[in-house]
Formats: sequence, C-alpha cells, structure tokens
Amino acid sequence: MSNITKRPNVRPTMPNFSSGPCPKRPGWDVSALNGALTGRSHRSRLGREKIEQVLSQSRKILKLPADYQIGITPASDTGAFELALWNLLGQRGVDVLAWESFGKGWVVDIVDQLKIEDTNVFDASYGELPDLSQVNFDRDVIFTWNGTTSGVRVPDGDWIPLDRSGLTICDATSAVFAMDLPWEKLDVVTYSWQKAMGGEGQHGVVIFSPSAIKRLNSYTPSRPLPKIFRLKSKNKVNDSFFDGATINTPSMLCVEDALDGLDWAEKIGGLDTLLSRSDSNLAVLSDWVSESENVEFLARSRDIRSNTSVCLNICAPWFLELNVQDKAKAVKVITNILEEEEVAYDIESYREAPPGLRIWAGATVESEDIRILTGWIDWAISKARNEFNL
Ligand SMILES: Cc1ncc(COP(=O)(O)O)c(C=O)c1O
Repeated sequence: MSNITKRPNVRPTMPNFSSGPCPKRPGWDVSALNGALTGRSHRSRLGREKIEQVLSQSRKILKLPADYQIGITPASDTGAFELALWNLLGQRGVDVLAWESFGKGWVVDIVDQLKIEDTNVFDASYGELPDLSQVNFDRDVIFTWNGTTSGVRVPDGDWIPLDRSGLTICDATSAVFAMDLPWEKLDVVTYSWQKAMGGEGQHGVVIFSPSAIKRLNSYTPSRPLPKIFRLKSKNKVNDSFFDGATINTPSMLCVEDALDGLDWAEKIGGLDTLLSRSDSNLAVLSDWVSESENVEFLARSRDIRSNTSVCLNICAPWFLELNVQDKAKAVKVITNILEEEEVAYDIESYREAPPGLRIWAGATVESEDIRILTGWIDWAISKARNEFNL
C-alpha cells in the first residue's frame, strides 16, 4: 500500500462543479432574484419587457447576426431541440452525428420517434468524434457542438460549408457562452439557461437562421405537433415568439436569474471574457493532467477537448486493475470523499459514460478553485486506494 498523497489544507471558495445545473456566477446569492416579477403575468407590460430583455441581451452577448431570430421555449434544451426536430425534419434526408449520451438520444428521436426513413447515423464511442468529412450538407445535419457526457466537442465549424441546401441543427447547450460558434454555419442552435451562465433549470432557447425560418414557413410536416411545439398560425411563424410572447408560462424567477447572469457577463467583458475564462480553466486542468499519474482526458485528441464539461479517466495503476463494476464503485468512493470534505460536488461522470470524473469548467467557475480542486482529487484517489486493498 502506498503512502497517501498529502492532504491539501485550502478548500475551493466554491465547491460546485456540476455539469448541469452548472455553478452560479461568482458572488451570486438569492437576493439576485429580488427584482423578479413574481405573482404577475408574463404577458403584462413589465413581464414582456423582462423577457424581451433576456432575448435582446442574449442576442447582443452572443453576437447573433441581425437576421437570426431567438426565442424562449418550454422544457429546457430538450424542449428547444425537440421543438426544432419536430417542426423541421422530414422535408429531406437527415445525417445525424452522435458520440455520447445526448447525441445518441437525438438519434432515438429521429429514427424511432419521428421515423425519418432516410437517415444516416454517424457515431463514435466515448472520447472520439465521428468522421466529419462523411457528412452530406444537401441533407439536414443534426449534431451536438459539445458532448457534455464525454467532454468531446467539434473542433470548429470548418467542416460545415457556408453554401449548403440542408439545415444544420445544433444542440449547443454546453457550448454557448463558452465556445466560439460560427453563426453563419448554423441554422438552428439550442441551449438551456441551466448551463454555462449558471441560470435556473426550466427554459430553453432556440435560435433560427433565415434558412431555418424559410423552412418553417414553407414546410409543414404531416405529423401531429403538441401545442408546446407549435410556432405557426395560418402556416406562418408567429413573429411575436421572437418578441417575448412565449408559447406558455415561463417562471419569472428563472427569467430574473437569466437576466442576472447576462448582466454579470456584460460586466466582466462579454463573450470574449466568458470564452477566455473557460479556456483558462481548461488550461489549469491540462497542466495538472500532464503532470498527474492519476488522471487522463477521456477525449484523447487536444483539438476536440471540451473547455466546459471536462471528462477524465482515472489511470492510477491500482484503479486500472479493477473490473468495470469496481471502477464505478471506486469513483463513488473518490467523489464521496470529496463531497464529505466539501471540496467538490457532482463530479462523477455521467451515468452512461465510462466511470471517471467530470468537472465543469465554464466561465462561472474560478480558475483558482479548479487548481485547488486538483490537489484534492489526487489526495482522494490515493485515499480511495485503501478501500480496495491494492
Ligand atoms: C448536450 C446536451 N443536450 C441536451 C441536454 C438536456 O438539457 P436540458 O436538461 O436542459 O433539457 C443536456 C444536459 O446536460 C446536454 O448536455
């Protein structure tokens, strides 16, 4: 049995590293919601103004092209993405890319639920990306910008042509506000408030390019559409959806919280600062991984490594001797130690991913907290070894 690594004596100022709901901005407390329009109608003048403010501030921070439209949907990112799939798909064949749990979930929607017969699936296992050069952009292309459960993202938008006849439909929930999104290459982008800005879980956001709006206006699928997905009246998209007239009732507490996150983003310098904070957090983790004998990135290749949901394999020699069930148990032991020490919550890998760790590194997390956390992880891994008598 080896000696246990020295126990650090400083804790992170904030032990929240969950990949969803993600940590709140530094300094957040519940008084940020004091101005919420609770007990009032979201369709009142003030309610509508608050929602419009979320839309216009998001548009500004994300630097959306003027001819792109943005609206709030029910049911978080899942609601936003399914609203897009149910409204748009079926007009032509579909290429869908999947390399982790959420992308694989969209394959189920497209193949088993929507039953789009002309579908090509390009998949890859955890830690890898499918071959992007195989995608045909005359078809509709469905993909996740950042696979939250594997920590693998597409490297950039270079594989997407500007000139294409199909639509690119992108689940970008753990990429928006953290990665540079080439809007002109993306026709539909969805995300949820609970991710990079640390908002409350509840609502989703959908962004449409002019081509996506054109498709919505010119194509009506024969399938039934639940009211929650209906964007059109008299065969035309309701423009009011993009002015804050939501399909159903949003939580005004969540609206206030989303505004708080956006105000913070503007105060610290907008998108460029958000992106560089996530990059710095990944850099701290990369420095540690390159020195540590305990961990390695699940995403093998540097250019596809997420700077938000950073997924790590444990590669301490004693851990590698365990079978897969014992590996899962060992991860629990490690994360329980960290939780009991109040230094890290919710950093176990996703239930369908290989047993390991997942650390949220988005802009709301301080780099120094991540640096402090790494010492605790090395210590917890060496301590957990005792339980397995190795
Ligand atoms: C890539 C991706 N897609 C979809 C979802 C589902 O998001 P939500 O729970 O906001 O609907 C998540 C949640 O973590 C995700 O990471």
